[in-house]
Amino acid sequence: MTDEPKRVVILISGRGSNMRALIGAALDPSFPARIAGVISNRADASGLATAEDFGIPTRTIAHKDFDDRASHDAAISAAIEEMGADIVCLAGYMRLLTAEFVNRWEGRLINIHPALLPSFKGIDTHARAIAAGVRVHGATVHFVTEDMDDGPIIAQGAVPVGLRDTEADLAARVLKMEHRLYPLALRLVAEDKVTMNDGGTLYTNLSETDEQALLSPLGGAQETRDLP
Ligand code: GRF
Repeated sequence: MTDEPKRVVILISGRGSNMRALIGAALDPSFPARIAGVISNRADASGLATAEDFGIPTRTIAHKDFDDRASHDAAISAAIEEMGADIVCLAGYMRLLTAEFVNRWEGRLINIHPALLPSFKGIDTHARAIAAGVRVHGATVHFVTEDMDDGPIIAQGAVPVGLRDTEADLAARVLKMEHRLYPLALRLVAEDKVTMNDGGTLYTNLSETDEQALLSPLGGAQETRDLP
């Protein structure tokens, strides 16, 4: 790869385990992106300490310090620019974003959602999946657009829903898939192999391995099911 690695800023609100997965992937010199910074809207997000342990610059831009959503988002946008981001990853960032923010970063702003979109947008996805009786659930990485959890899909990972699954069982199984899926999806976005085009997703020059990354990628142990 001759291209410079892309600079990625990650937005978090909490524990940052997906952020951790992205940081880990970007430690590999062959990964096409570097994590340039982490921004939280909450000072108590435990992910901040994790990022600092890796020597990654962090900023807290607390929403409660701003009068409205527009000024908070504008401050975050300015910080992202200062960090020199090419790509912005939402990783458990629990704030709705303004249209101005989304439009500013459109096509370079991606999110991971703990459900197979377009099913179960919003919060409490695992409890709702169990209540609905679905036998397959999962995670989706998508481009962010103005409507919440609605942008063009990049990659999805499915997991089985066990008949005796608790919400915690299912959340843990989906999270494991998230940690696998998000770095693979970021890689393809950073390589410009997946772009947002005309309101959809455009895939270009994908190898067979790239295509496998987009649909329920397997872990190192090649496990397909881990029901209790
Ligand atoms: C993940 O399930 C993610 O999909 C959702 O929020 C959760 C964040 O977890 N958007 P973490 O902070 O990455 O551990």
